[in-house]
Amino acid sequence: MAAKPPIVIAVDGPAASGKGTVARAIAAHFGLPHMDTGLLYRAVALTLFRFGGEFDNEFEAVRACANIGQIDMVDPELRSEVVGSIASRISVYAGVRQALIERQRNFAGQAGGAVLDGRDIGTVIAPDADAKLFVTASPEVRAQRRLAELEGRGIKAHFDELLADIHARDARDTGRETAPLVQADDALLLDTSALDRDQASASAIALVEAKLAGR
Ligand code: CDP
Repeated sequence: MAAKPPIVIAVDGPAASGKGTVARAIAAHFGLPHMDTGLLYRAVALTLFRFGGEFDNEFEAVRACANIGQIDMVDPELRSEVVGSIASRISVYAGVRQALIERQRNFAGQAGGAVLDGRDIGTVIAPDADAKLFVTASPEVRAQRRLAELEGRGIKAHFDELLADIHARDARDTGRETAPLVQADDALLLDTSALDRDQASASAIALVEAKLAGR
């Protein structure tokens, strides 16, 4: 029997848009491995935070990229707000992005294919992906989701502060020179503002299936 051709699926979008949820659902549906590329940037951030280093210094951030092997990728601190905020700052550096490219491209290039989610998967990491989704939601909905997520973990937070943080991250993600967050020309848009997790996942799978059927 001939091996099935690899399927590469790119999922991009801003913070708390639901891209991680839909990427995991797509991966489970198609039986593909999944990489949350935000975790790589978070690992660099946690390395700086834990082992010392200036967050606003590109040289030190690039040096930290070589040491992310020391981070346990299931460490809950990777998901913390402070680490997310540092990740957002160090991810503007071209040197940091370059240092993390190979790992992501190797993952995308594995036999059988893969699903990757991030900010620049469809534009930079896997521009030839078989299907690309750009997942979005209004800033208010995204801030509300963050609030619910934090409260669910027993962490107190304020909606206004979370909304301001979402706006700041969007500005950094879309405004940076290297690999800014932008919908690829051939990416399908999925607005999850009015969708719950299951509806968003089902819509995403349907979009990808339709796209693959037309290959
Ligand atoms: O959803 P959230 O933005 O909180 O976190 P994430 O997806 O884990 O990404 C953490 C940070 O890394 C984001 O603020 C992005 O600026 C950055 N990132 C990136 O620049 N490129 C990627 N492919 C993934 C994440």
